[in-house]
Amino acid sequence: MTDVMIRAVGVTKELPLGQHTIHALRGVDMEILSGEIVGIVGPSGSGKSTLLGIIGGLDSPTQGKIEIDGVDITRMNEDQLTEIRNEKIGFIFQFFNLIPTLTALENVALPVQFARKRAYNPEKRAKELLVSLGLQDRLNHRPSELSGGQQQRVAIARALANNPPLLMADEPTGNLDTESGAAVLDSLQNIRSEFGTTVVIVTHDRELASQTDRILHLIDGKMVEDAVEKHKFNRT
Ligand SMILES: Nc1ncnc2c1ncn2[C@@H]1O[C@H](COP(=O)(O)OP(=O)(O)O)[C@@H](O)[C@H]1O
Ligand SMILES: [Mg+2]
Repeated sequence: MTDVMIRAVGVTKELPLGQHTIHALRGVDMEILSGEIVGIVGPSGSGKSTLLGIIGGLDSPTQGKIEIDGVDITRMNEDQLTEIRNEKIGFIFQFFNLIPTLTALENVALPVQFARKRAYNPEKRAKELLVSLGLQDRLNHRPSELSGGQQQRVAIARALANNPPLLMADEPTGNLDTESGAAVLDSLQNIRSEFGTTVVIVTHDRELASQTDRILHLIDGKMVEDAVEKHKFNRT
């Protein structure tokens, strides 16, 4: 176990667009420590989602490398990446991305069923997580029968299904009212306290960002001020 959960070195992403090249990321260097809650902020189009996707092994960089928990994922093949995503990383998205035909319980149980090294009974695990997120009365509801805030809590439970050391959230409160957004943030903080989970949150929401340990600013594909706002997190 290393203290650094995420290390990005010179991460560059170039995307071809017709005759042009979009420089989505221009050499991002950063380290995120185990157990930190870090906010990534920046204008629309600055590369936040691209960076999150690359950190999470959903996308690969044009240049540079990413280490997750001391393991270089940059040159892994699709099978190896799938395994890392399933076991080490939980994802939370702005629009929840739940499967509409499945109940809350079934949505959360799914990643446990798909784990190669299954550590839990899927149904029991799903129920425990949903109860801990205050959804004990909603186990058998489908997404369309839940509010936005409830759906996002189901999505958080799903992200936690295989007890990953790393949670990544892309605008998790972007589609929620203030109160539901605050509940989502509370949940993420509780998860960190309870399990020591590292949490990376891309957000436009200043209130949410201000509750993190540290804020990284991404502007035009470059990380700026990495060194500035890290006072709240005790690095020892
Ligand atoms: N699949 C893609 N094809 C072409 N351009 C893309 C693609 N994904 C993102 N981009 C471009 O890369 C840049 C960064 O996008 P993104 O990471 O989505 O920014 P953010 O999440 O900060 O709004 C933008 O200029 C965007 O238009
Ligand atoms: Mg985005």
